[in-house]
Amino acid sequence: MSELGNSFIDVNARNFDDRAGVTDQRANEISRNILSHLPKQNHISILDIGAGTGEIGAYLCGQDRTYTCLEESKDMIAAFAKRASTLGLEHCTFLQGDANTTWPFPDQSKDVVFGSRVFHLLDPVHVVHETLRVLTPTIGTFVMGKVKRDKQSPKDRFRTKMRELLIEYGAQPRPSEKRRAGILDQLEKAGMHTLATQTIYSWETTHRPIDSISNWAQKDTMGGILPPQAVKEKVLTSLRQWALDVYGDLDKDVPTQEHYILEMATFDKQ
Ligand SMILES: C[S@@+](CC[C@H](N)C(=O)[O-])C[C@H]1O[C@@H](n2cnc3c(N)ncnc32)[C@H](O)[C@@H]1O
Repeated sequence: MSELGNSFIDVNARNFDDRAGVTDQRANEISRNILSHLPKQNHISILDIGAGTGEIGAYLCGQDRTYTCLEESKDMIAAFAKRASTLGLEHCTFLQGDANTTWPFPDQSKDVVFGSRVFHLLDPVHVVHETLRVLTPTIGTFVMGKVKRDKQSPKDRFRTKMRELLIEYGAQPRPSEKRRAGILDQLEKAGMHTLATQTIYSWETTHRPIDSISNWAQKDTMGGILPPQAVKEKVLTSLRQWALDVYGDLDKDVPTQEHYILEMATFDKQ
């Protein structure tokens, strides 16, 4: 992640738990589901990539497990370490590092590679390479947690329209969803088998059309690329008109549903 991105997250680490919407109860449900799919053996070694403040990670720590997180942000790690000390957690290690470089663990040393809401930020080819290197070949399990929106959610409709407009005005957006799907495809090609996707919980939320437009207006990137300024302006103008036609009012709260899902691949034959 860029220095800018990292310092943004550092500044926001204190508020991250509130914004992210993973309550204690939900984090518990996520971890229970993950643990129920893990190989039944005495001592499991879990690696959590981009653990943040440890909302979920804290529930993965335990007597019969070794838990390590690899997290880029110092502030996130400090918040997680504080949480761990308050809860009296043992057998957990926090490492600061960039998961887009070689993961600082020996080959075949982890039974589980877990990442929640992080893999879309990383190079998928690197994630696959390092996952296959550090996972134990017999029981190794990869777990990816992410937030899925309904296809008709305003955020997704905006994204789809924005990408169509970029193409219409001569730019080529970067494939997005394929990046994450690609990780599981590649792990499957390497001999792992994927398990059925689990929806852990769903929630109602709202989105204001104006927020999507302002968000892209403030960022340099759009659709994963840096479009020429003239193209960006044309896209934003057309997007605003499209949103007015579809939603009538750019400031209104449009209701939508979101879901936290887990996707897994494993070498385990049980
Ligand atoms: C959206 S948060 C998710 C936190 C946590 N996994 C959860 O779901 O609650 C993404 C986390 O990934 C971390 N991160 C982003 N890029 C990273 C990288 N290249 N290496 C390690 N951690 C990274 C961020 O610092 C942040 O804590």
